[in-house]
Parts: sequence; C-alpha cells; structure tokens
Amino acid sequence: MSTTSKTLTLDTSTSRANPTPKPMKRLTVPRIRRRKGEEPLVMLTAYTVRMAQLLDPHCDMLLVGDSLGQVIYGLPHTVAVTMDLMCAHGAAVVRGSYHAAVVVDMPFGSYEASPEQAFESAAHLLKETGAAAVKLEGGKVLAPTIEFLTKRGIPVMAHVGLTPQAVNILGGYGVRGKSDEEAKSIVEDAIATSQAGAFAMVIEGVLEPIAIEITKKVACPTIGIGASAECDGQVLVTEDMLGLFERTPKFVKKFGTMADNVEDAVKEYAKGVRDRSFPGPEQLYQPKG
Ligand code: KIV
Repeated sequence: MSTTSKTLTLDTSTSRANPTPKPMKRLTVPRIRRRKGEEPLVMLTAYTVRMAQLLDPHCDMLLVGDSLGQVIYGLPHTVAVTMDLMCAHGAAVVRGSYHAAVVVDMPFGSYEASPEQAFESAAHLLKETGAAAVKLEGGKVLAPTIEFLTKRGIPVMAHVGLTPQAVNILGGYGVRGKSDEEAKSIVEDAIATSQAGAFAMVIEGVLEPIAIEITKKVACPTIGIGASAECDGQVLVTEDMLGLFERTPKFVKKFGTMADNVEDAVKEYAKGVRDRSFPGPEQLYQPKG
C-alpha cells in the first residue's frame, strides 16, 4: 500500500519517509530461499547510504559485511570489528535501500560462545538496523546456533569455506579444500548449516568442485565468492569490483575503474583551486541588484 502526495511517495509497506520513484516491496527471506536453482541471486556489499541507493535497484541482497573493517576503517582484518560499527553501517544501508533484502554480518566474538549469546547479538543487530537477516561464519560447530536463531525468528545466512574471522587460526586467506580431508569437512559444514535452517549460505574461497558439490547437495541457495558460477548467486565486495583498490584477489573481476575516476577528478579539482578557475561564476553567490 502507498500514499502519494505531489512531492512525496510514502511507501507504507516499508515506512520509508524518503521519496522513491515507485513504491517497492523488499525481497523477503522466503522469496530468496525459493530462488534455489532459479535465476541467480545478485548480492554486493554496502556500508553507506549512498552506495546502498546506487546498488539497491540492481541487487537482490545487500550485505553489510564486516569487510568494512578493512575497506572503510583500514583495519588489518575483521577480528576488531564491533557490534556498534555493524549497527551504524547496517542502519545506513537499510535507510538507503527499498528493494534488496539487507543482511548484516555478526562480528567476531558476538555469537560463538553460545546460542543464547548469538540470539542476544542478532536480535540487537536486527532491532538497531532494520535488516532482514544476519550472517555468521562457521559450519558444523555453529549448526546448533543457526537452528536456535532460526526457530526464534532470526533468519541466518551461513558462511563456509574460507572464513576470514578465523584468520588467526588459518594463518591467511588462501583457498580452502586442497586436501581431501578439508574438502570433505567443508561439504559437511555446508550440509550441517543448511539442515540447521540457514536460508542461504556464502561459499568463499574454495576449489570449484567443492562449491559445485555443495550447491547440488544443500537445500538453500549458495552464494559464491571465489567459488563457482554454478552457485545459486554471487557476491563481491563492491569496492573491489568497482576497481577502488590497486590489488585485488584472483576471484575479483574489476567491473569499474573507480580509483582512476577519483584520481582524475581530484587532479582537476586541485588544478582548479591552484589556477583560481574554481570556484567559477556558476558556483558563486552575488548580491542582487
Ligand atoms: O564481510 C564480507 O564482505 C563478506 C563477503 C566477502 C562475503 O563476508
């Protein structure tokens, strides 16, 4: 339902007060779940309101990833990311989007101790942000937690394979599943989290046959990153795929040249300031009469 005035379209289904071209309904978790084996799901990370506005019309899901630790805050890894950071950025992304389902990462240390700790953290994240779901990293060990949250009204996206929050155990971000034993364990992780009720799962940084096997074996959609085009969807860190960074992992394709665009614009601005061509008459206010 919507109410329309001359200046503002108020989408009553989302309670959004900002003007939007057309009232839209957000994609829901059950609709995403039903996309298993159907049209591939498009997911990108978003951390800010403006980026959310730009990505929203083209994405099924926006992930407020804890990768914001590195991308926005220059941290060496995601271990230091806090609940407060996830809440602030999650709320911004929900404010900037109308159509995509917003998923917020549970930061390291907010869910591993017990299902009860995870419920408290996840409920806090959903209340503070208005997001539709949370994502957490881990497999078999976290399956009881996923079941606990799901049965209490919190949709969970699982994350298996390379789990960056475990960097201090793994020793780096190398591809996972090179030994038969590790490959088997990742497949078991995926099956356990799906059976526990995960509505979707990210498969990150694994040998392709593992991602294909998981996608065939689990009931929920798989979202690949460095995994396989046969996954039920794909996710990338937006700033990576826009070309903001010089160096990116092998699995990232640069779809844009953002760093070059920023540099060109800043060079022009600096030149304009230095030769006094900026600000020009169009940017200045003059007294009337
Ligand atoms: O934090 C993040 O951005 C993620 C994606 C890379 C899947 O978890």
